Amino acid sequence: EAALMVSTPSPSRPPVILTQDELKKVAAYKAVEFVESGMILGLGTGSTAKHAVERIGELLKQGILKNIIGIPTSKMTHEQALSLGIPLSDLDTHPVVDLAIDGADEVDPYMNLVKGRGGSLLREKMIEGACKKFIVIVDESKLVKHLGGSGLAMPVEIVPFCWKFTAQKLKLLFKDAGCVAMLRTFSETGEPFVTDNGNYIIDLYFKKDIGDLKAASDAILRLTGVVEHGMFLGMATTLIVAGELGVTMKNK
Ligand code: 5RP
Repeated sequence: EAALMVSTPSPSRPPVILTQDELKKVAAYKAVEFVESGMILGLGTGSTAKHAVERIGELLKQGILKNIIGIPTSKMTHEQALSLGIPLSDLDTHPVVDLAIDGADEVDPYMNLVKGRGGSLLREKMIEGACKKFIVIVDESKLVKHLGGSGLAMPVEIVPFCWKFTAQKLKLLFKDAGCVAMLRTFSETGEPFVTDNGNYIIDLYFKKDIGDLKAASDAILRLTGVVEHGMFLGMATTLIVAGELGVTMKNK
């Protein structure tokens, strides 16, 4: 993992070197400072969100936080939160969520996100869409100028039925951007990755800018066979970035 500097070196103060995982933890802990007793909390998924969930569990155990109810965004987070003794519920019982804390794969200057490289985008979007406040926590490696421009995957969750047909439709939708559409599989077995909802993920890769994000989002969602995509447009209310020069926070 890349080691990044979090303070300016000086003769009296040696530089503190944090790994990428430690930076994720710094961002996560900062976000948990916004959690208050009695909140209904959306619990994110991934290696950054995991630190936030752990911290919430710790503060509950210490009695610093009380009466928290967590709404997990994946089976994995459900398991983690259970093991930490965080009381859990769902959107059926608690349709309004006070605050969600989650990571992201890409964040653009307008706080639009790509999520779902961990495969949990559907539940994340449902829960984070039901939140009054959504804090996104990242290390600075996630910051991009344009979504989809990092050369990394833009995930789309689709139904398994005739997945090749849907993948081809997705590819054609973005043919001007030189789109490649790949079924997400396990490298060891070649078996498709199956989401918590029993669906497949098509990872889209672009050679060029995809242009207007809202238009791209609408076009993807119009395809029958698509369940949801990993662009989270205008959903984040706060961004916390941990990087070389410390932690920065930005509100919508
Ligand atoms: C999972 C997600 C994650 O939030 C995203 O992939 C970031 O993960 P990490 O914190 O491990 O980098 O969207 O579906």
